[in-house]
Amino acid sequence: MKVLLGVTGCIGAYKAAEVLRGLQKAGVQVRVIMTEHATEFVRPATFEALSGQSVIVGMFTQSDHSRIEHIATAREADLLLIAPATANILAKFAHGIADDFLSTVYLSNTNPVLIAPAMNVEMWNHLATQANLKTLRERGDLFVEPGVGYQACGEVGVGRLAEPEEIVTAVLAVLSPDSRLPTPDSSKDFQNEHVLLTAGPTVEDLDPVRFITNRSSGKMGYAIAEAARDRGARVTLISGPTKLAAPAGVETINVRSTREMYEAVMNHLADATVFIGSAAVADFRPVNRAEHKIKKQGKANFTIELEPTEDIIASVAADPNRNGRIVAGFAAESQTVLTYADKKLREKGLDLIVANDISRTDAGFDVETNAATILKRDGSRVELPLQSKRELADRVLDEILKLR
Ligand code: PMT
Repeated sequence: MKVLLGVTGCIGAYKAAEVLRGLQKAGVQVRVIMTEHATEFVRPATFEALSGQSVIVGMFTQSDHSRIEHIATAREADLLLIAPATANILAKFAHGIADDFLSTVYLSNTNPVLIAPAMNVEMWNHLATQANLKTLRERGDLFVEPGVGYQACGEVGVGRLAEPEEIVTAVLAVLSPDSRLPTPDSSKDFQNEHVLLTAGPTVEDLDPVRFITNRSSGKMGYAIAEAARDRGARVTLISGPTKLAAPAGVETINVRSTREMYEAVMNHLADATVFIGSAAVADFRPVNRAEHKIKKQGKANFTIELEPTEDIIASVAADPNRNGRIVAGFAAESQTVLTYADKKLREKGLDLIVANDISRTDAGFDVETNAATILKRDGSRVELPLQSKRELADRVLDEILKLR
């Protein structure tokens, strides 16, 4: 297997050398492309010595002029990895700008693309960057999400390059669709588990144009799916409508309504050893769905009659064939968070519940980070301070395993 590793200009560029070594240990051949700015942080000689191959920097510096270099280079590999990826390269990729070798390879590439962004928190949060990320995700590019922490500029927040082991694990998962390839130094502590999980919102239609839904983006659930996959689990993701690309190596079933989500969960429950309900499921749906668009009746009030939906996680917990299956839920609360979460834990028959305080702007719905308290049936609690959803996903999985 061959990977093209694009290195762009930021302080985390030196970590690309560790990524390269990790991939080589897993038997992957790596060819490095650097942007001019990247060479200000790390010399090409470092990557040449490690990879045993010349590093491509400029558009016109290759000696073999008998072939179209950027197209030939793109075709030689099975995956294009960019680590670290600056806000600048994301913008170029999103807009199809091809003014250096790496961005030109991106445009000529037809293989999977995996991007590990790294930048200052304000640059990450800027609407321009977020719009570019959205474009790239919608296009199917895959991401190793940045972590939260102290940054080179002294600020604290999202934007730190993911750890090299995490990037290597993600590469191997993409290269191996069943995600069962051996990975270097990484724990496979979920390899005997089948994790079934829900993510995103559900949508309840009123008529062909109107519906009831909520703000869930699916980011938390997709992060759990990827974390479980990387730890060796077989993963089945039942997802409400989101803008996220289906994670590689995860069986993903797309649904819309609560009833569809309920049926998909029940159809895949039999051999699931862990169930995680991270979806924000509609608690009510309209009693009647109009076949045609509902017309305005003058200025009269309009009343919609709602009925309760299926409680998916409560049904999973009450399954008579549950055996040793661990059932974990989420609770999104804006007040008396722990009291309400504890009530749900007990009333729904869960083993643990992850309570996120959605009154914070940096946690809960549709943000990259989350902070939560895990409540268990024995009354114990685990505090999870603000971190990326991917990091929090791993902490939730750690606590699930402790219940085994
Ligand atoms: O998707 P993101 O934008 O990343 O946001 C993540 C999140 C905030 C949606 C997620 O972290 C979260 O908190 N999900 C649960 C949302 C919620 O409010 O759940 P709830 O309190 O309504 O339900 C409690 C539990 O029962 C949840 O596990 C839920 O999936 C489950 N449930 C609820 C109702 C229902 N009819 N069936 C269910 O299975």
